[in-house]
Amino acid sequence: MGQMAHEIFSGETILYPQVSSEYLAMHLTGVCFGSALGQCFCFQKPGKQPMKINFLLLVLFLLGSVGSAASQVVAENIGRDIVRFHADAEARDQRLPSLALETPRLSLGPAPEPFAVEVQFRKVHGRFAAGIDIEDGTSLYGTGEVAGSLLRDGKRTVCWNTDSYAYGINSESLYQSHPWVLAVKADGTAFGILADTSYRCLVDLKGAILFVADGPRFPVIIIDRESPQAVLRGLAELTGTMEMPPLWALGYHQCRYSYTPDQRVLEVADDFRDKSIPCDVIWLDIDYMNGYRSFTFSPWDFPDPKGMHDRLHDQGFHTVAIIDPGIATAPGYHVYDSGQAIDAWVRNKHNQPFTGNVWPGLCVFPDFTRADVRRWWAGLYPLFLTTGVDGIWNDMNEPAVFNVDSHTMPVHNLHQADPELGGPAPHARYHNVYGELMARATREGVLSGRPRLRPFVLTRANFIGGHRYAATWTGDNVASWQHLDFSIPMVLNLGLSGQPFSGPDIGGFVGKGDGAMYARWMGFGSLFPFARGHTGKGNIDKEPWSFGKDVEQTCRLALEGRYRLIPYLYTVFREASETGLPVWRPLFFADPADSDLRSVDDAFLIGRDLMILVNTTRGQRPETPLPAGDWQDITEEVYGVADHPDLPRLMLRDGAVLPLGPILQNLDQGLPGDLTALVNPDSVGLAEGWLYEDDGVSFDFRTGGYRLTRWTYDPAGHVVNETGSEGDWPSASRRLPVIKFE
Ligand code: GLC
Repeated sequence: MGQMAHEIFSGETILYPQVSSEYLAMHLTGVCFGSALGQCFCFQKPGKQPMKINFLLLVLFLLGSVGSAASQVVAENIGRDIVRFHADAEARDQRLPSLALETPRLSLGPAPEPFAVEVQFRKVHGRFAAGIDIEDGTSLYGTGEVAGSLLRDGKRTVCWNTDSYAYGINSESLYQSHPWVLAVKADGTAFGILADTSYRCLVDLKGAILFVADGPRFPVIIIDRESPQAVLRGLAELTGTMEMPPLWALGYHQCRYSYTPDQRVLEVADDFRDKSIPCDVIWLDIDYMNGYRSFTFSPWDFPDPKGMHDRLHDQGFHTVAIIDPGIATAPGYHVYDSGQAIDAWVRNKHNQPFTGNVWPGLCVFPDFTRADVRRWWAGLYPLFLTTGVDGIWNDMNEPAVFNVDSHTMPVHNLHQADPELGGPAPHARYHNVYGELMARATREGVLSGRPRLRPFVLTRANFIGGHRYAATWTGDNVASWQHLDFSIPMVLNLGLSGQPFSGPDIGGFVGKGDGAMYARWMGFGSLFPFARGHTGKGNIDKEPWSFGKDVEQTCRLALEGRYRLIPYLYTVFREASETGLPVWRPLFFADPADSDLRSVDDAFLIGRDLMILVNTTRGQRPETPLPAGDWQDITEEVYGVADHPDLPRLMLRDGAVLPLGPILQNLDQGLPGDLTALVNPDSVGLAEGWLYEDDGVSFDFRTGGYRLTRWTYDPAGHVVNETGSEGDWPSASRRLPVIKFE
């Protein structure tokens, strides 16, 4: 027991949010040594401030009484530079199936000795804890969906999926859980840490890396590699990668709560086309339904969904419709009846179907931990999709429950989970994966309805690894400059936690905001991997034209820029789907050893070659460190204007060739043929770049139906030549004029 363990385990307080009191009451009443030490345990009453436990003395007590556990730790090799640690052999043998890994990982033998990262296990307040020491100069990232700065040093996150309307900087739990930290060392080498537990888990990054979780002892997996990029590849080896989305999902999405009735949906679509503002997707929020019942259309407001969809499709639009998990307890409603027939619902502690209020009134909730329930849920989609709906939006799947103090299901509810998930257990174990399992069933359902088309699913709640099933957005944010600011590091940290396809409600969901803020947010927000404008019920209109002509023109330019960048963006998506590297990447990816780049919140990279500088303030953009190199400003080529206060500055890496497309109004016709090659030669005059192409909709790319072209700049001829390609997709005969920067 050295100094290190001392530092890791001797934080001063554990704060858990309101929802923890119930679980604590169940599980910690036996923890009496705290009072023996004269500690003050303040269990929280519903609606009161979070409980606060000072546990410094307790920790010292535990350290003294339990003694060193380090000698019993079992470390097993499960991949290249990937080691799984268990508290002891018994913890290894009794561990629950991982809900994070794509497939179970067998031990490949003992861990290599020495292994650079050491994990220590202890008990803290009756909970199991794992600690990892860090060297000076280490920077911490990840922890999933978190509001605030990119750099997470000193921050605390509680992994507990929570409906967090109008969240703020102090909200410790948002909608998703990623018990994962990326640690970048002073020299730019890195390691990642996954606490392999689905239970509520505190991730405390004050001075060290500490995970404290409810539930049984959990393993900790460390990926120790040469760079943060290599660590993220390792995370993808463990948790899988995002499947290529349909091309249309990379277009701009327009949403509101709600466009209703159908005529309003068509009007918004017409406005986009009339005003020549690019857009691919119009969203259907809950008011399209009949009484907020999932898998129904209102016969009054949407009497002919197929007709509406035919018109939208003719105009090159797709739709995404919301489907919530709460199912109205209404005999005669086909989803309720068919669910009843297989006894599909999560049960309460009295072993009766749990009921709670959500939008439709009293609801039951499918138990997605059962494969038969997921099959039933998936089976609801083919019929629903005959209305013409293209993509599905799963919301409220933390799950949110209005009439429970914790705003979710009680942790003692019961799931009849299949053995491969760990078998029947209380909600405490499955809460954090409820949304992910719903999204998985949804994806399977959409696929079963349209086996030849790539599905698009968006989910609000998710768990690490859930990027395999769905994209995400950052929930009910606020129309404020602060949330505009949050939105960049939130998307970056989601990317650093395995989720490459995300974005915020551009313009803000809660509150009005104003034109100045909306224009700025849309100005750079059009570049989010998932670019969707949205706003709440009763709120002002927030379409690109809602704030007057000037803002409308800014939005048009911003969105035209996105569409011109689609060939590049699609290529980056392909890379993400192959390697697990994010689409939006923090600036320090350009040089992980450059400590100045570690905490930049308002600039980032898309892929490797494009740097984006955003002014997130109302004044001048503050100077921030930039990566070394001769980056060239390509803003004017992309937006047609060189210096617009609301548009970001775009910089091209030296040595890069970037394929720029024409302005498109939507992506229905697939990727463009003619392109322009933006070339920024390196110090010896060379540059290269890649372009990924396929049909944008099918899975043919899996069997060679794609083309990945490598282009090299020839300074003598001032042309870009194809110098390599992969795949069977026919090469487009295209014009490829060159614009060279020096
Ligand atoms: C939730 C979602 C929001 C949606 C609303 C109505 O608040 O987060 O995006 O518009 O429910 O469905």
